[in-house]
Amino acid sequence: MCGIVGFVGNDRAIDFLIGGLEKLEYRGYDSAGIAVLNNNKFTVNKTTKRVADLKTKETEKLIGNLGIGHTRWATHGKPDLLNAHPHLSETQKFAVVHNGIIENYQSLKQELVAEGYTFKSETDTEVIAHLLEKYYKNDIKEAVKKTVDRLKGSYALGILCSDLPDCLIAVKNFSPLIIGVSENANVIASDITAIVPTTKKVIYLEDEQIAFIISHEIIITDKMGKPCKSEVSQIDWNVESAQKGGYDHFMLKEIMEQPNAIEQTIKNRIKQNEVYFEDFCIDEEKLKSFEKIQIIGCGSAYHAGVVGKYVFEEMLRIPTQVDIASEFRYSNPVINEKTLTIAISQSGETADTLAAIKEAQKRGSFVLSIVNVVGSSIAKASNGVLYTWAGPEISVATTKGYSTQLAVIYLFAVWAAKRLKTATKEELNAAVEELIKLPKLVKEALKCEKTIKETASKYKDAASVFYIGRNLDYAVSLEASLKLKEISYIHSEAYAAGELKHGTISLVQDNQLVVALCGVERLFEKMLSNIKEVKARGAVVFSCSEKANKQIEREAMINVYIPKTHNLFTASVEIIPFQLFAYYVAAAKGCDIDKPRNLAKSVTVE
Ligand code: G6P
Repeated sequence: MCGIVGFVGNDRAIDFLIGGLEKLEYRGYDSAGIAVLNNNKFTVNKTTKRVADLKTKETEKLIGNLGIGHTRWATHGKPDLLNAHPHLSETQKFAVVHNGIIENYQSLKQELVAEGYTFKSETDTEVIAHLLEKYYKNDIKEAVKKTVDRLKGSYALGILCSDLPDCLIAVKNFSPLIIGVSENANVIASDITAIVPTTKKVIYLEDEQIAFIISHEIIITDKMGKPCKSEVSQIDWNVESAQKGGYDHFMLKEIMEQPNAIEQTIKNRIKQNEVYFEDFCIDEEKLKSFEKIQIIGCGSAYHAGVVGKYVFEEMLRIPTQVDIASEFRYSNPVINEKTLTIAISQSGETADTLAAIKEAQKRGSFVLSIVNVVGSSIAKASNGVLYTWAGPEISVATTKGYSTQLAVIYLFAVWAAKRLKTATKEELNAAVEELIKLPKLVKEALKCEKTIKETASKYKDAASVFYIGRNLDYAVSLEASLKLKEISYIHSEAYAAGELKHGTISLVQDNQLVVALCGVERLFEKMLSNIKEVKARGAVVFSCSEKANKQIEREAMINVYIPKTHNLFTASVEIIPFQLFAYYVAAAKGCDIDKPRNLAKSVTVE
């Protein structure tokens, strides 16, 4: 979590710092701060409000062309001004911003306190500022090297030294950090969305690398000080895709972008009615060696994995287990070289997923990841990657990230089914045809917006909502429920419809809103029975089914219809009304939709 930025160049630093932090606010918004060097002295401005609050008259006057900035998701110490970054060293020679966690900060702090250093904050970051000062004997490279050598944990750092008015220092270890390269300025940021407005040329810093960045030169070394080669890559995301484009919130914009995002993900991967992956890391022989598929992910990525389990078991007949990454990594998993691990992550930076990948690899498993952000830590750590070409996703609550993960899951399933001969030619053709149609069907599903908006305004004050479904409908109910609770703060639970009667039904009373997902045709009758059960206890039922299911209108008070698609691809159209429902409930309640309380988009802490 947390976002960091830094600037060195011909122009004043403040414009990039504030603009960049606004782009990174999704990574945490407990506080924000900047430090700019003017006449060898740091001016530091901090706020416990949003980044926009930093745009003061005083900030406007900052003409210095070297600076760093930070937007915080609190881990060590409450979200107040003292704990807000940047942090300064004892004599204010160093200013530091940090994303990550210094695991050994307590012992370092004790050591520094014993040596006379005073701490103003409760953060782990402040030890870094003091260590830099402790080791600085007019040799910056040596000071940074010695400091980094003492740190255990994850960190992306932006460092300034008041003796060096033209030098921005960046350090990376297990937290993302990218350098943007341009003629007039070089910049750093946790994410490319902050960099794109300045330049599309970037260097992805590797773990344990240190960069000394001046306006016309970048020197990258390993942590021992040995020079490292670096490659400048060109990004193809454009500035518009990282802006709201007329929508009130990024979330709504991203919901509406789903047909296009799915199209981007699918289009170059279907050739002559066959799924095709360029330079794919798995060949037929390798694929046939897998006896088990293990899926890992967190949050919505885990929910996409639950869909994956149903799809893979049905299409490939390979036993598939799906685990929450933070549970998997500590569970002594039974996997080996005959297991294909599939890690799913939009950001590619989720700490638990990254650690789970390493755990899987340690046990000999081959890791294929499904990732949106090119060059991210998870993409790099995996044995192979299938990218979801969703473009930048800014809203904390994922929508197009999830939808494109589903699209990649289907593509992989069809690709593998052909090689494993677990589907007939006709079945494969039918699946590919439906995949091609998917963007259009999702577009059609979005037409329910008006109905959903009206329903949302009626139920915005609901105390709790239940989502029930079976099989793929259950997988969708998990995601639908998460969407609602994370942005509208309404308590909600997703339940396997058949399991409801084993306990949870005791919570159903008069006027309890129960959303019944009935997209899986073969289980429709079973769902009707479950709907009757909750209705008998006073529930108000909101159903979702394919248009042909007229029977449901007799039972449910509210009905939303989704277009018919391949029986294994239902999740892609069925999630749409419920992303919109969550959005419009939260909007009717006046919630901060793109930045819900206590959350962050990229969770780089365990
Ligand atoms: C956070 C986000 C979720 C996301 C989860 C996993 O909790 O708020 O929207 O699903 O992290 O993130 P990833 O980037 O690994 O998909």
